[in-house]
Amino acid sequence: MRPADRSGQVRAQWVRETGRVVAHEGDGEICKLTVCAPEIARRAVPGQFVQVHPVPARLPGRAPGAPRPGGPGPASAGTGGALLLRRPFSFCEIRPGPGEIALIYRVVGRGTRALSQAPVGVELDLLGPLGRSFPDPRAGRGRLVLIGGGLGIPPMAAAARWAVQAGRDAVAILGARTARDLAGAREVAACGIPVVTVTEDGSAGQQGIVTEPLERMLRHGAANLVGEVWACGPEPMLVAVKRLCAAARVPCFVSVERFMGCGFGACLGCTVPRAAGGYLKACQDGPVFPAEEVVLGDV
Ligand code: FES
Repeated sequence: MRPADRSGQVRAQWVRETGRVVAHEGDGEICKLTVCAPEIARRAVPGQFVQVHPVPARLPGRAPGAPRPGGPGPASAGTGGALLLRRPFSFCEIRPGPGEIALIYRVVGRGTRALSQAPVGVELDLLGPLGRSFPDPRAGRGRLVLIGGGLGIPPMAAAARWAVQAGRDAVAILGARTARDLAGAREVAACGIPVVTVTEDGSAGQQGIVTEPLERMLRHGAANLVGEVWACGPEPMLVAVKRLCAAARVPCFVSVERFMGCGFGACLGCTVPRAAGGYLKACQDGPVFPAEEVVLGDV
């Protein structure tokens, strides 16, 4: 475990590592990528993220230094030279034993489309772990409520595993628009904690939005059971969770999503307004923040 700060959160001590794809499954829209990257797996803490170059560093059977398919550099590879930047992904699973990390992502553009075509055996250029983690679950008290919305669900699998290993009582509330958008929910459930599933169209679990079960837990005399809330998902969801927790005086940590250019504090592309004035960098000071530390929406 890396040294933690006052809030119990671990800050990045990142390395650049070449990882080998050991599994890659998906349907062209949602993919799960498992990479053998022992040093990053050893250092990573739930809530942190890894930057992945979407174009393989080396293909299976191709000699080191041999030209990449489609061109001479990582930016080309037959994709028009638009793939210069690594893409950030939260850790869904961290397995220091076999030295593996697993990431779940949605194919939304050229970078993730290129990544989705990486076959088992290729090597990927990785930078990580980056950012500030969730707080150590051993430090908190009471029931930990994990809230994941849409693509905020996968990081809650790593968080749930951490909570279970720490012996912390935890429950997850996972929500999305439809059952199809619940990527990562299976991984959260596999950790063995109770899971409340919510979808907007009712195609899985209860019909509604993720903040409704949280509101019920807090309203119906259960506030004293809810010791802490960790949330990851769309910003309007984080705003609502922050409001509910503030009203119930329950500590809340939010994982915010921002454009990440560099991932380590150099490009200023990821700023988040600080409640005390000025700005914080999501890539270094977050992505996980104590909710009262940042301004989300207008709160
Ligand atoms: Fe570059 Fe945060 S991503 S400063």
